[in-house]
Amino acid sequence: MKLKRVKGTKDILPGEVERWRRLEEKIREVMARYNYREIRTPIFEFTELFAKGTGQDTDIVTKEMYTFLDKGGRSLTLSPEGTPPVIRAYLENNLGRRSPLKKLFYIAPMFRQENPQAGRLRQFHQYGVEAIGSPQPQIDVEVISLCVDIYQELGLDGLELKLNSIGCRDCRASYRTKLRNYLADKADELCAECQRRLTRNPLRCFDCKKEGCKLIMKEAPVILDDLCERCREHFQTVKEGLSDLGISFKVDPTLVRGLDYYTRTVFEVLGPGLGAQDALCGGGRYDDLVEELGGVPTPAVGFAAGMERLLLCLNEKENSPNSRPDLFLISLGLQAQRLCLRLIRKLRKAGLRCEMDFLGRSLKSQLREANRERASFALVIGDRELETGEANLKEMESGQELKVNWADIEGICSRIRGKDVNS
Ligand code: HAM
Repeated sequence: MKLKRVKGTKDILPGEVERWRRLEEKIREVMARYNYREIRTPIFEFTELFAKGTGQDTDIVTKEMYTFLDKGGRSLTLSPEGTPPVIRAYLENNLGRRSPLKKLFYIAPMFRQENPQAGRLRQFHQYGVEAIGSPQPQIDVEVISLCVDIYQELGLDGLELKLNSIGCRDCRASYRTKLRNYLADKADELCAECQRRLTRNPLRCFDCKKEGCKLIMKEAPVILDDLCERCREHFQTVKEGLSDLGISFKVDPTLVRGLDYYTRTVFEVLGPGLGAQDALCGGGRYDDLVEELGGVPTPAVGFAAGMERLLLCLNEKENSPNSRPDLFLISLGLQAQRLCLRLIRKLRKAGLRCEMDFLGRSLKSQLREANRERASFALVIGDRELETGEANLKEMESGQELKVNWADIEGICSRIRGKDVNS
């Protein structure tokens, strides 16, 4: 039997890994400028955390979690999203103790048993932020601006930012009744899933992709018309703040998001050319979650962004320029190889990216390997070089050669850094 990777997972191979690292560097750089601190939570948590946090009625909890019992019979789940674990860690480690506003970010794999397709995986990666502690709409603006800045700095055009407010506990309760009343006499025309949603969380009917439901939802009342005064003001300030920063957005009153914890602001960024899986990121405010997970009432806002989808959008070259060795040490014979092992350690400690032969190959095939690896220089060491203490340093592209003292690590380094054997 041929061993295969699990459906919906991917190997990130050398060549592609460099693109991931560049992306991670950019994310960390922008996060640092916005003063968000990195947090790393375990890859699995007690299942209860997601049932309570993400929400009993969400697709994630009802259909998509990788849940298993450990040997002690405890139910554990591979994190399908980062928000509940971050809030759990925030509470468990008392992170709010010293700063009333805690700004955290993460980059981590997530697991959801969805139907895999382009841009939708069962193990995927997210970067995300959670700003915990401020009720002010200005922090919503900061979070959205951070989110947009990363895309802009990566040179991504053609994005669409969708924005909505789904109100607070109070105004949503009365809106929910209104929506239920609207849907009551149309229930038979709704799909089975939406019929279930109707009783539990009718707002989710806006997410249905079925034509019949979409048609019905087109005429449905929207929450924006039913916001309470404070939620309306909050939303207004978010919109003004974004406009002040020159961030364009489109208010979409049907944007409700598929997770249960949101309150007030919700947003998504859609990317170009992604087909059905076009949500690059999603987020919003969740003022009740900290309390629901056992803390004192603490407002919070955040987002998470899919990295696979982002990389699909970015049209970058495969190989980064720094993935090639500076120097390939070519050794002819065991004695020369022994010396090369000593030399290469020193050269690497001096900061050069070096490679040598570990297969006992001929001169010709070591040179071929140096070319295949696109090494900038090669240094050939055989019996004669062992005896004389001198060796030829060859610049691979020009073919120029220079005699060097192979024990002179500093000299070799400066030749290579100067990039020219004649300089
Ligand atoms: P989410 O909308 O479930 O939100 O996921 C955020 C992003 O993760 C999506 O927009 C998408 O780019 C990516 N994503 C989700 N599922 C998959 C998948 N199966 N394959 C590839 N990419 C995927 C959250 O996770 C919330 N925790 C966001 C948040 C943070 N809200 C407040 N704070």
